[in-house]
Amino acid sequence: MSIQRTLALIKPDAVKAGHVGAILGAIEKNEFRIVAMKLVHLTKKQAEGFYAVHRGKNFFTPLTDFMSAGPIVAMVLEREEAILKWREVMGATDPAKAAEGSLRRTFGTSIQYNATHGSDAPETAAFETRYFFDELEIC
Ligand code: CMP
Repeated sequence: MSIQRTLALIKPDAVKAGHVGAILGAIEKNEFRIVAMKLVHLTKKQAEGFYAVHRGKNFFTPLTDFMSAGPIVAMVLEREEAILKWREVMGATDPAKAAEGSLRRTFGTSIQYNATHGSDAPETAAFETRYFFDELEIC
């Protein structure tokens, strides 16, 4: 097992609904160390850049509209196997298919409005972390 970092987002639906506190609580309960955190309101172009890997898919336009519609909380989380563990805590992409008690099952309302995001691999985590944070902002 190795100490890893992953990029985590609390999406505009969960921020607007007032779930930031509960999600931060779950992060701490699951023994992640928050090594960077900020509230950001992405422009449409910044959302498109973040999700560039999905460009051309049928959900790209609604996804980037949604992700630029309001503030999000961006964080870098650290713990053993952080990437896999954060994906476990979030649950499946589609809240209807996510495990009982997972964040997306609890706070998500559809595959698009799914409350949280997490990197899916070390290379993605490196790209996504750099997208939101400078080296000096990570403690
Ligand atoms: P996220 O983990 O942020 O990564 C890409 C996002 O696209 C995903 O969560 C969903 O919110 C959104 N999305 C919308 N429709 C789909 C779909 N059909 N399949 C996968 N992701 C989708």
